[in-house]
Amino acid sequence: MSPAWRITKIILLLLVLGSIYVLAIQKHNQREQIRKVAVALTPGCAEKLRRYGLVHGERYRSPYVMQQTGASITVRGYSEDDVRAIQRGCNIVDDTQGSLSGDAGLARWNATRFIRGTHANCDHCHQGIGDKQDADGNRLKGSLSLGASWVMADMYDRFTGLLLPYELRQMQCYINSSNGYKPNIADDLIRDVTAYSRFLSAALDLKIGNHYDEQGIDEIAASATLKQGDDYVRGEGLYKEKCQSCHGRQAFGTEANGRIVAPALAGPNSWNMQSRNYFYYVSTILPGFICRNMPLGQENTLTNQECRDIAYYISNLPRPAGDRQGPLAALQQQILMTVMPPLMRLTESAGKN
Ligand code: HEC
Ligand code: HEC
Repeated sequence: MSPAWRITKIILLLLVLGSIYVLAIQKHNQREQIRKVAVALTPGCAEKLRRYGLVHGERYRSPYVMQQTGASITVRGYSEDDVRAIQRGCNIVDDTQGSLSGDAGLARWNATRFIRGTHANCDHCHQGIGDKQDADGNRLKGSLSLGASWVMADMYDRFTGLLLPYELRQMQCYINSSNGYKPNIADDLIRDVTAYSRFLSAALDLKIGNHYDEQGIDEIAASATLKQGDDYVRGEGLYKEKCQSCHGRQAFGTEANGRIVAPALAGPNSWNMQSRNYFYYVSTILPGFICRNMPLGQENTLTNQECRDIAYYISNLPRPAGDRQGPLAALQQQILMTVMPPLMRLTESAGKN
């Protein structure tokens, strides 16, 4: 090899590495710039953050705590940067897919790059923008509160046995409940949702390290029923009667004018088989969610048995495989998701004749 060629090779290599470096710096600056831009809040976040009195300043005092308990508690306040992070985090939880934003990529840190389907939205499950309350402002047991979850900073995961910080628990929800990919632990997305969750804990005066009832789901074990077993046929009947009008005949979700009316409970846009919403993985979570939160507008009207039957039925419908199931299961689910809907329509119309 001639010395000239050798030098050219080194120069070429340096050029490539140099341009990657410049590109990285540029992207980094771009992100810094976005962090400085004023945040356009979703209507839900505008209302929530106004009610919680979020402004920058030396000290923060929660109007919610004042109103609920009469106590005036002052804690360290927020810088302008903090306020924008909290606002962006709120927007991500309320509108993960960015359907309410002009530029979803910029405004939501491209959250959709970590989500495969088009339905998943944190607020669908972590309702009330991660802070569900009744009309009197009481927080609700098992409402998947993000504030209560944040104060449980590190937690032993009961299924993997791993000690998981809040950020890693968020990640699980992208991978499984949103059937997507793992964001980096330092991704702007994770940072902002964490900032928002931390603010919720201050606004609600939750103490770090405490367990609150509103964390997680108010789960329904088989022992909390009349022990008739979980039944597909009963579940199907109940689903048709109570859920189908919103979630659709196949439970694949419903849309109107490009907007989601009710999210998918099965099919390509739903959570996957690795999600804790999946009955065969954890049988107590989905029934708990259904009993507390559905049918929308008639919450708490179903019995424990009914919720288990419906959850059992829903989990027998085809959905994406998780990353532990392997390619064969993924293929099988993919085929089922494609052939089941027309097949079911066919058998139903045949049954009517
Ligand atoms: C389809 C429903 C669903 C969606 C969508 C969803 N989650 Fe979850 N989330 C759950 C369930 C179920 C759990 C597990 C609760 C348990 O194990 O008790 C959970 C757990 C969590 C936890 C840990 C809670 C704790 O206390 O340990 C965090 C944090 C979280 N989700 C954040 C998010 C974020 C952020 C999004 C949006 C990107 C999201 N989730 C989307 C259902 C969902
Ligand atoms: C009036 C319409 C309506 C009815 C009836 C209804 N849902 Fe929902 N459901 C929704 C909407 C809308 C959401 C999104 C969350 C929200 O906006 O509160 C949702 C969310 C859910 C979720 C959260 C997970 C996800 O897909 O993101 C589950 C699970 C669920 N519904 C199950 C049921 C079941 C089971 C029934 C019947 C017992 C039912 N729903 C009846 C409208 C409805």
